[in-house]
Amino acid sequence: MTQDEQKQAVARAAIDYVEDGAIIGVGTGSTANFFIDELGKVRDRIQGAVASSEATAARLRSHGIRVFDLNEVDSLPVYIDGADEINAQGAMIKGGGAALTREKIVTSAADKFICIADGSKLVDTLGKFPLPVEVIPMSHRVVSRKLAALGGQPTLRMKDGQPLVTDNGCYILDVAGLQIGNPAQFEATVNNIVGVVTVGLFAQRCADVALLGTSEGVKKLVF
Ligand code: 5RP
Repeated sequence: MTQDEQKQAVARAAIDYVEDGAIIGVGTGSTANFFIDELGKVRDRIQGAVASSEATAARLRSHGIRVFDLNEVDSLPVYIDGADEINAQGAMIKGGGAALTREKIVTSAADKFICIADGSKLVDTLGKFPLPVEVIPMSHRVVSRKLAALGGQPTLRMKDGQPLVTDNGCYILDVAGLQIGNPAQFEATVNNIVGVVTVGLFAQRCADVALLGTSEGVKKLVF
């Protein structure tokens, strides 16, 4: 199976976690996009969705799925999203699509996090994928120095020659050169740096289930 076929297979498998009449939390990225396309096929079964980005909201609406503001919703049985890396304990690096803050907020509101990813995302140690950190724009240089002191090599994410601006009006630092041995502790350390909005480590709140694409089909890990 190609990487895209794996993403499509896990997106299809994730539909099993969609309860009738529910509002579904939906992530951002290419795998989440495959999931949204599958969700469109069963849209009459659900009330709607909470989106983790403007891009996801637009794609949901294009399928005729009602998009709810998180503040309108009392419970979210499930949040379904991709990952840039996931380890054998269900801890993840996310934020390659710059949506980490809203992804973490919607995750915090959901009863279950179902991670959908192609098999290449499963790693022994998190950190080969540069760790995204969303920061308040005026703080990006001071936060960069503090991340460098922690052993990383931060780079300001750019788009069209300008710093990329997130849906929240913030910047992203991508921190290379890390080997994250204790993800939950490192998440707390980076969260404590003044100017950091969100670190793209999802370790204090891991995935509950991972559906991973392999050449033999979808592999399920329960954490
Ligand atoms: C976006 C994310 C995505 O889940 C992550 O980047 C994986 O993306 P893809 O499914 O395209 O590989 O965290 O902010």
